[in-house]
Amino acid sequence: MIAGQQVVQDVSFSVPSVGITAVLGRNGVGKTSTLRGILGLISRRGAVTLDGERIETLPTHRIVQRGVGYVPEDREVFAKLTVAENLALAERTKNPRREFVAELFPDLVARRGQMAGTLSGGQQQMVSVARALLNDNRILLVDEPTKGLAPKIVAQVADALREAAKTVPILLVEQNLEVVRRLADDAVVIAGGQVVHTGTAASILDDRALTMRLLGVSGEVPA
Ligand SMILES: Nc1ncnc2c1ncn2[C@@H]1O[C@H](COP(=O)(O)OP(=O)(O)OP(=O)(O)O)[C@@H](O)[C@H]1O
Ligand SMILES: [Mg+2]
Repeated sequence: MIAGQQVVQDVSFSVPSVGITAVLGRNGVGKTSTLRGILGLISRRGAVTLDGERIETLPTHRIVQRGVGYVPEDREVFAKLTVAENLALAERTKNPRREFVAELFPDLVARRGQMAGTLSGGQQQMVSVARALLNDNRILLVDEPTKGLAPKIVAQVADALREAAKTVPILLVEQNLEVVRRLADDAVVIAGGQVVHTGTAASILDDRALTMRLLGVSGEVPA
């Protein structure tokens, strides 16, 4: 429920404990609301289970402490803080994975002292993903990480997510089907406020009639 309006009706799916699961659906269908619902950022009914434990009764900060990392749609970096300060503020575990993040994003190491607001969109996205990866999460919720980025940067962000997914499962909202094809093992399609399809990402993307009907695009990646 957002502002008294029911934005999704019946969204039920599970995310395997390894790999990347994509959430697909047309604009405004409720993908972001689904992630925000998992985190308890909007009011919702039903159950949210993490490794067999019900977490939907917990307040958001406890859900985060249980290991649900969030990379929001609009990156939300602190523009007036440096890259290093943005990252330091995100650390909430005893042994933050600084080396792992530095290896994944060498660009950010070089720009430690730069104010985040002066970074490119792609670099800001890297800060946003890096913040989540510093902590030992049990799952990452990542909302449209490649939106508005140049193709070369899309590839970099995708590579980083693929690397990250070796250590933590990712629930990924992504409109770029080329990225979905490269990264996602499974996919969940939302339409009309409901989950209308689940399966392997490849099987969904290869079904042209299905992607046209549910996503309004052909799942085929241009050669
Ligand atoms: N703060 C809000 N107040 C009122 N309605 C909202 C609010 N936020 C979202 N909505 C509505 O809820 C529905 C679902 O929005 P949501 O952002 O979850 O969709 P989405 O699939 O993430 O869209 P997009 O592809 O644009 O990111 C939309 O119809 C949207 O207009
Ligand atoms: Mg959204």
